Amino acid sequence: MKLTIIGAGHVGATTAHIAALSGVAREIVLLDILEGIPQGKALDIYESLPIVERDCHVLGTNDYSDTAASDLVVITAGVPRKPGMSRDDLLTINAGIVKSCVEHAYAYSPNAFYIVVSNPLDVMTYLTLKVTGLPRTRVVGMAGVLDTARFRAFIAMELKVSVADVYAFVLGGHGDSMVPLVRYTTVAGVPITELLPKEKIDALVQRTRDGGAEIVSYLKTGSAYYAPAAAIVQMIDAVVHDRRQILPCAVALDGEYGLSQVVCGVPVKLGRAGVEEILQIELTPEELTALHRSAADVRQTMERLEELMQWQRTAT
Ligand code: LAC
Repeated sequence: MKLTIIGAGHVGATTAHIAALSGVAREIVLLDILEGIPQGKALDIYESLPIVERDCHVLGTNDYSDTAASDLVVITAGVPRKPGMSRDDLLTINAGIVKSCVEHAYAYSPNAFYIVVSNPLDVMTYLTLKVTGLPRTRVVGMAGVLDTARFRAFIAMELKVSVADVYAFVLGGHGDSMVPLVRYTTVAGVPITELLPKEKIDALVQRTRDGGAEIVSYLKTGSAYYAPAAAIVQMIDAVVHDRRQILPCAVALDGEYGLSQVVCGVPVKLGRAGVEEILQIELTPEELTALHRSAADVRQTMERLEELMQWQRTAT
């Protein structure tokens, strides 16, 4: 298994480290345009492996030819937001960066499975689909696993239970209108509606929606990376080990949930073939409305991307 990570910032490097420690790939390539940064971080990661007795080739590079024939490519390149910014505010700057990275990566790894992480997440996933022309089974965005992990963490903190006992699903776009599904949220099989009053659940749902911004407000100079990286590695693991795990991922929808021509987070079965199935779980009319509202927000940013790309085409 050859794993390429584009972008050696906090998210990319932490993903490389967790992936190396967990043994999910035998070969990891960390690429960045900044000279020295991927080389230094890759060497540092490799030097941690004798301690945990793991063998994995870790290469840092500025050269896309080193990424050739990767099985998995993770796109983390781009800039993170600063306090007060929404993820959509990153569109103009990150669209150009992500487009160029994807074009280069795809030229060397046309058969890879692509996981997109750069923000605005759903729209960058759409951009990757467009640039590569890959089928939607080969390109997903990582956000639902992260948003769900945050919801699970907040519930575990509130109820003082093991995080492992909390099961939840967060659907929709990776933005302020994401949809934590309270009805499918349980603690050791018990619905949280039986464990917490509505006001408390509403507060945890809101904290989940603001989860990324909460970290940004502490860090000030960037956004979260430990939980995002752990989420990426879980998705990689599902593919590498053909787990057929049901994970919320951003995928291009084609009629599912009554949505088309939009990328949005829904439950997906991830295995060796990539997206093996898009699950259509039962939603109440309210939940479906919330999902459609979230998809409409993504679509708006997708339209801005189209205008941006059109403008770039005209300018060149
Ligand atoms: C977050 C950013 C990375 O949710 O989107 O932390």
